[in-house]
Amino acid sequence: MSSTTSKRTHHLTLIAALGVLCSVVLFFVYFHPTSTVCPSRLDDLPFLAKGDVSSSTEKPVEKPLVLLWFWPLGLRWNFEICKTHFNIDSCVLTDDRSLYDKAEGVVVFHRDISWDLKNLPQSPRPHFQKWIWFHVESPTNTARIPGLENLFNLTLSYRRDADITVRNELTTVQTEKDSVSVLPKKDKLVCWIVSNNNPSTGTGTRAKYYQELVKHIKIHVYGSAFTGSRLKYEEYYSTLASCKFYLAFENSIHRDYITEKVNGPLVAGTIPVVMGPPRENYEQFIPAGSFIHVNDFTNAKALNE
Ligand SMILES: *[C@@H]1O[C@H](CO)[C@@H](O)[C@H](O)[C@H]1NC(C)=O
Repeated sequence: MSSTTSKRTHHLTLIAALGVLCSVVLFFVYFHPTSTVCPSRLDDLPFLAKGDVSSSTEKPVEKPLVLLWFWPLGLRWNFEICKTHFNIDSCVLTDDRSLYDKAEGVVVFHRDISWDLKNLPQSPRPHFQKWIWFHVESPTNTARIPGLENLFNLTLSYRRDADITVRNELTTVQTEKDSVSVLPKKDKLVCWIVSNNNPSTGTGTRAKYYQELVKHIKIHVYGSAFTGSRLKYEEYYSTLASCKFYLAFENSIHRDYITEKVNGPLVAGTIPVVMGPPRENYEQFIPAGSFIHVNDFTNAKALNE
């Protein structure tokens, strides 16, 4: 599957992953019954309580421990970011596997699980510990690894029916009455950045649609699918901003699977032309008037007109 994911997506996945992990922390905090900032269920764990041997009045550290089993896709970052970027500081995130026995949560990134499951924790699971299945891709692009069915206690994904839902949320701001929002200068009508246009990976629908659309309109294309080289991360937003419309075609069509392909152009001040789940599903996440859905038109020719 790794070949289908571009560097840029990796980058964005990484950013999303930061938020995801911080949200795990939030989740743990939220679901703990105690009212303290962080719960006390870990009070009696020796390694946490031992903190300061000289002072008996000192309160023990009470933050629950969440172990990140794999660095998603091998990308690392500083856990401090939870505090500095997301203002979440109520639990302890660690990648230190020697703390496995003490971790209340173990987050496992699906794509890094080996087929024989040998790289999952092998020691017995403490009774209080929850395993969290962490996945960010659509069912089409997900390898079904046998044996995972009964291993996990919680799911963490973009889907709203996950136990922990984490999405790249978009916030809209109300502009002042008299203020004029200045749109970036646009010298292109329609753009598309795509790293993989190979129909065999579930991208057939969008490839066909593109081929139909390009007969009627000029589309500026970027990314390894067309140019053989990936668009640099630094060039991503400026490229988006220079286009009036952006083809925000998902690689596969699934409920709630609405990615940064849509948020990116909206942030850049560009109208996304979306292909993915039905319009209603999009409207649950972004304003109805902020995008064009390919299904609003009978076919590519009609969309062009
Ligand atoms: C987590 O799931 C495993 C496997 O189904 C189960 O044995 C364990 O009791 C569950 N742990 C918790 C804390 O719910």
